[in-house]
Parts: sequence; C-alpha cells; structure tokens
Amino acid sequence: MVRDASVYRCQECGFAAPKPGTCSDCARQGRWLELVEERQVPAKGRRAPSQPGSTPVPLGEVSLEGGERIPTGIAELDRVLGGGVVRGSLVLIGGDPGIGKSTLLLQASRALADLSAPVLYVSGEESAAQVKLRADRLGISPGGLFLLAESNLEAVEGHAESLRPQVLVVDSIQAVYLPDLESAPGSVSQVRECGGRLMLLAKRKGIATFLVGHVTKEGALAGPRVLEHLVDTVLYFEGERHHRYRVLRAVKNRFGSTNEIGVFEMTERGLAEVKNPSGFFLSERPQGVPGSVVVSSLEGTRPLLLELQALVSPANFGTPRRTVLGMDYNRACLLLAVLEKRLGFPLQTQDVFVNVAGGARVVEPAADLGLIVAAASSYMDRPVKGNLLILGEVGLAGEVRAVTGLETRLREAAALGFTGAVVPRNNLSVEARLPLEAQGVASIDEAIQALLGT
Ligand code: TYD
Ligand code: MG
Repeated sequence: MVRDASVYRCQECGFAAPKPGTCSDCARQGRWLELVEERQVPAKGRRAPSQPGSTPVPLGEVSLEGGERIPTGIAELDRVLGGGVVRGSLVLIGGDPGIGKSTLLLQASRALADLSAPVLYVSGEESAAQVKLRADRLGISPGGLFLLAESNLEAVEGHAESLRPQVLVVDSIQAVYLPDLESAPGSVSQVRECGGRLMLLAKRKGIATFLVGHVTKEGALAGPRVLEHLVDTVLYFEGERHHRYRVLRAVKNRFGSTNEIGVFEMTERGLAEVKNPSGFFLSERPQGVPGSVVVSSLEGTRPLLLELQALVSPANFGTPRRTVLGMDYNRACLLLAVLEKRLGFPLQTQDVFVNVAGGARVVEPAADLGLIVAAASSYMDRPVKGNLLILGEVGLAGEVRAVTGLETRLREAAALGFTGAVVPRNNLSVEARLPLEAQGVASIDEAIQALLGT
C-alpha cells in the first residue's frame, strides 16, 4: 500500500507546504511558527456529500423558510446575532480559554430549551457532571436541555439523528474528532473536517448549531480561523481575563450586521448583561485628574464612552518607554510623534503610558484627539477643563479630521450627563441639531488651547 503523502501545516493560519519549516505567511507578520506534519486524508473519506436537491432556482422563487429565528433569551447575544439564532445556521463563538464561552452558551441554552426543545449540549472537554455543576450554580435546569459528554463526532452525529435537537452546542470544536482522520483533535484538518460535517448536519436537519472555538495566542491549538469561511456567523468573545467585562463582537454574519457588540459582566452567578456600557466604563473615573479624558468608540449602531488615560513622566535613561494598553501601539506612537513635532512637546525625554480604563479597547481613529489631549494634559500636569467628550481623528499635519456618527455619540454623552464636547470643526458644518454644546476645532493646537488653555 502506498503511504499517503504528508503536508506540513501552520496551526495558526492553515498555510500548507510540502516540506517542514516555518510558516512563510506568519513570518511576514514577524511571527515564526513551526509547520506541523499532517497525513493527507484519502479523498474518499473527505468528500462531503452534496446537499440534496441542489437545482438552480430563479431568485424571485427562492423560499425564505429556514430564516426563522429563535431568541436566546439573552438580549445582548440576540442583538449580536441579528435578532436571535437562525434555524439551520452555524455560529462559531471564538475566544481565549476561560473567557466565558461555555458559560454564555449554557445560559443561552436555558431560554432556547424553553422555546425550542430539545437542545443538545455536547461537551468534549468537561464531563456531564461538571457541566451540571455549573448549570446548578447558574440556576439552569430546563427539561428540554440534554447534556452529552462525547468527543467522537460520529457518535455526536448519531445522537443528533436520534434526539433530533432544534439547537446543538458543540463545546469545543477543538475537542471533537473524526476517527477516520489520523491527525490529533484540534489540528487544522480535524477542525476543518469536523466543521464541514457539522455544517452539513445543521443545514440538512435545520438545527441551529453553536460551535465553541478556543483561540490561543501561541497557536498551540488550530485557530478556529480556518472555520471562518465555512460558518454563517463568527462571534468573538473578548475581554481581559482579570477584568469583569466581556464584549461579544460579530466579525462575520450572513444573517445580520457585523458591527453590533454585546457587553457582559462576569459575576459569581454567571454572565450578566450590561445595559448601559458607557456608564459601566466611566463609573470609576476620577474627576479633575491630569491625563484622563473621555473618548467615544462607535461600535455598530452603539456608541461607547470610554476613559482614556495617559501618564507622561521623565525617562530615566536611554530610549523612552511607550506602553499602550487598549489601543493600537503604532497608532499611539504616531500620535505622540505628531504632538512632539507639531506642538514641540519634548516627548523624546519622556516615558509615556497609555491605558483604556476597565480593560476596554478602542479601535477607531475617533479617539486620536483624546489620546493627544490626555498626553498633553499629563505632561502639563493640568486636568482637562469641564466634563467634556473629546472626538476627532488626527492627521500627521496635526489637523483634526471629521468622524462618523457624531450625533449618535453626542446623544450618548448627553444621556450620561456630559455638558459639552470638543469635536472636529468639519463635522459641525454638515450636521445640524446636536444634543449638547459642541465646540469645533480644526487642529490639535486649537484643541489643546480649548481644553487645557493657558
Ligand atoms: P468558561 O465559560 O468555562 O470559559 P471558556 O468556556 O471560554 O473556557 O468560564 C471560565 C471562567 O468564568 C472561570 O474562570 C470562572 C468564571 N466564572 C465566573 O466567574 N462565574 C460564573 O458563574 C461562572 C460559571 C464562571
Ligand atoms: Mg469552556
């Protein structure tokens, strides 16, 4: 018998090569990851059966059935899914180990089991008793929820055929395996094949299926990234493990917007929804302290107000330090360079530390001006005047550029008791009625004059 040829695959991005070595795709991003040997699967075993009745249909005659949604009873999760989970869809929930994926899905199973029993919760990592213990702790005991501790995917498929669940949870995709494949559970080929099989099961039987996928920074497990193209919806559950808050973010959604986020707080009694995230993030904000500003991050239709802090202090020797938590490091360095070059702040002799309070993260350029003002405020040791929101993208010339969604952001600020805002002047010429007093600025110089004025 001829031995099947091996391929060598990157466990992080799925890059495959015929020879051992390091992943050239990841190397371009400065990461050196060893390729792992995988035996090629015989073509017979991996060919997926085609979907039954696949014939071309005129667009106008395509039936919409199957688009029916089941609410999960967790409003924040429903919002991110686009209004509940769609029957027959495959949803991947990715996140670091320990972030709360199993907790979230167990809590979601409660309402799902009431509305659309039976729900089958397959745990490949924990025993049924462990899941039961957690369910007891969370006060979850619906009759329509079935637990199955199993990691052989063929057995799972068998149980799904006999139980006919409306909702299936597979926790996690890295723990289940197909015995026909030689590679270990969690390898890229196992994850991809198991994902493909579960996709077919979901579509064929109309089962709403949730997959849990662990992402590790070291790439020790196959990142669920290889599944992203296959599934209908990809949600990421993020947050700092030692902070209470968690954000659920859609990065792909065939049944809704990808801009929505859901905010949760991890408590002793499981995940609690945070209805007013801005208030939550600002709750411990010190008043009248240099280096602290409030910025806004618009996530989908939902504005979040966040506290951005900077600490600028004289560097002792050598190259000054730059430590940035909660926003992009390079963007922060770029903005500090603008502050130095355009306004002459001597930051080359200063260490700069930047932090977004509460372990939150801003990804938007609308927080640029906030960072510049926070750094200037800390350097000058002078607090920002008044209770103001600071908005604006900053260019390399020190100009303040317009941001999107000004009105939405200002409305959120007004609701939280802010009295005014400093915003890009270009925004003011187009947008008409604003919910609070906004002062327009065109450059970082003007902004610093207005907020820290001498
Ligand atoms: P878990 O859902 O097991 O994470 P994942 O499935 O993503 O690996 O949750 C793990 C953490 O959550 C664990 O460290 C304990 C904490 N936790 C609470 O703080 N309160 C709770 O009620 C529960 C169930 C978990
Ligand atoms: Mg888990």
